[in-house]
Amino acid sequence: MTGKNMTVFHISTECYPVAKVGGLADVVGALPKYQNKIKGIDAKVVMPWYNKSFVHNHEFDIIFDGFIHQGPNMLQVQVLKEKSDALGFELYMVRIPGLLDRDNPYGYQDENFQFIGFQHGVLHWLSAMQIRPDVLHCHDYHTGLIPFMVEHCWEFSFLKGVKTVATIHNGEYQGMMSWEMANYLPSFDRYKWGLLDWEGLINPLASMIKCSHAFTTVSQGYMEELFISFRGLESLVREEFGKAYGIINGIDTEVWNPETDPMLDFNFNSKNAVALKKKNKEKLCKEYGLRPELPLFAFIGRFATEKGADFLPDVVWRSITQTHGALNLMILGSGNAYIENKLKEYDYIYSNFALDLGYKEHLSHKIYASADFLLMPSRVEPCGLNQMYSMRYGTVPIVRYTGGLRDTVNDISTGGAGLNFTFPAVDDILHTMNRALMIYNQKGAMKNLIHANMNFDFAWETSAEKYINLYKN
Ligand code: ADP
Ligand code: GLC
Repeated sequence: MTGKNMTVFHISTECYPVAKVGGLADVVGALPKYQNKIKGIDAKVVMPWYNKSFVHNHEFDIIFDGFIHQGPNMLQVQVLKEKSDALGFELYMVRIPGLLDRDNPYGYQDENFQFIGFQHGVLHWLSAMQIRPDVLHCHDYHTGLIPFMVEHCWEFSFLKGVKTVATIHNGEYQGMMSWEMANYLPSFDRYKWGLLDWEGLINPLASMIKCSHAFTTVSQGYMEELFISFRGLESLVREEFGKAYGIINGIDTEVWNPETDPMLDFNFNSKNAVALKKKNKEKLCKEYGLRPELPLFAFIGRFATEKGADFLPDVVWRSITQTHGALNLMILGSGNAYIENKLKEYDYIYSNFALDLGYKEHLSHKIYASADFLLMPSRVEPCGLNQMYSMRYGTVPIVRYTGGLRDTVNDISTGGAGLNFTFPAVDDILHTMNRALMIYNQKGAMKNLIHANMNFDFAWETSAEKYINLYKN
């Protein structure tokens, strides 16, 4: 590597602030930026083109225009490069009319064609332009076929031998598809079919584990859990454990800074947090008809069972009735229709409860700044960023002891500044909320917890360095 920069291409379907559905975007929008602060590293991002405001508000150059074959279809592939590099890294977007020119990353019937097209398009561009990066860093199953394609598709022989690192942000989604889809992959050495297969299907996540030079998960705790529970891939991960690494995510402390965050009503730091968090809370409570003198518990996230969102309706009615209305709850999110409807019903019945359905970046920042406690009853949590954002904004996390949550939040009883519970069950959540209420009512206790949480260091620097060491190895 001497004398030359190490070039890393992060390949992902999401990247903040261009297109965000969840934490994957936050990671891909921050990690390369922090890697570029390390001498000798040149990290870039390649993602699909979306019909998003970021794209319309920034200038791009078309740097590549070509064609690929997907089965019988010939598809135009364009690569656009953002001109300003304002994000702290070079951003490339791959556009394929009809496949990669959509409003959102997910939710389309033909997503197999969409993601195969993306991966094919990226490698076609790199090969055609003879760009040979040192590392291709693939994120989640949408890019899981790349390690295989680089080695075993003839079209990309120029890239053969390029190192591939794969990060599993969420092993719940594996992108399985029937073998008929093999006809839509770039032509490959059919003797190698076993590297794509898992139990009779093409499984991009399994293939990514088999074919990458190293694979990572976004916390050590989650990696350990995958050996026991991984939606059928347990034996594979055990087999491949020699190249498995757990590296915890950081947070972008430039974006998530309560002192400068433009989305907050009142900015604050650890010295004036108690007074100014209170002012943020008063404003938010007023807007949502809640009572600012009561403690505020919040949940932000997707209404999915992995997040434990199915517990929320029961948590709402039981916590409000059992405490005779001694607390406020606020929920921001969307997803499962049954959960949404139940919560709407309780929003109507209970004045201590506020619901905002939808995805609202600004409101999420306001809630992190205003709440006293943040609930994360996740069944599965590979890393979790919400708890780290809440801590940085002086809000005490209440988390189930799993995955990245157990690596980042210690219970107050063991010297930590958060609250943990073990079982994913409503009773355990309510019990922990009662412990939180006791703390809230102890004089001086909240002040200490606010300060302790705000002083945690989740900066990206350490983890960015760990990835670089992994690339070098
Ligand atoms: P996941 O990616 O599994 O959903 P993470 O904790 O890694 O979970 O990241 C979630 C990210 O998405 C955080 O930045 C969080 O603030 C944000 N988020 C989740 N739901 C919403 C919402 N409804 N509105 C705004 N931001 C949200
Ligand atoms: C996934 C995981 C989440 C993690 C995020 C970023 O969405 O569900 O736990 O924080 O990826 O790595």
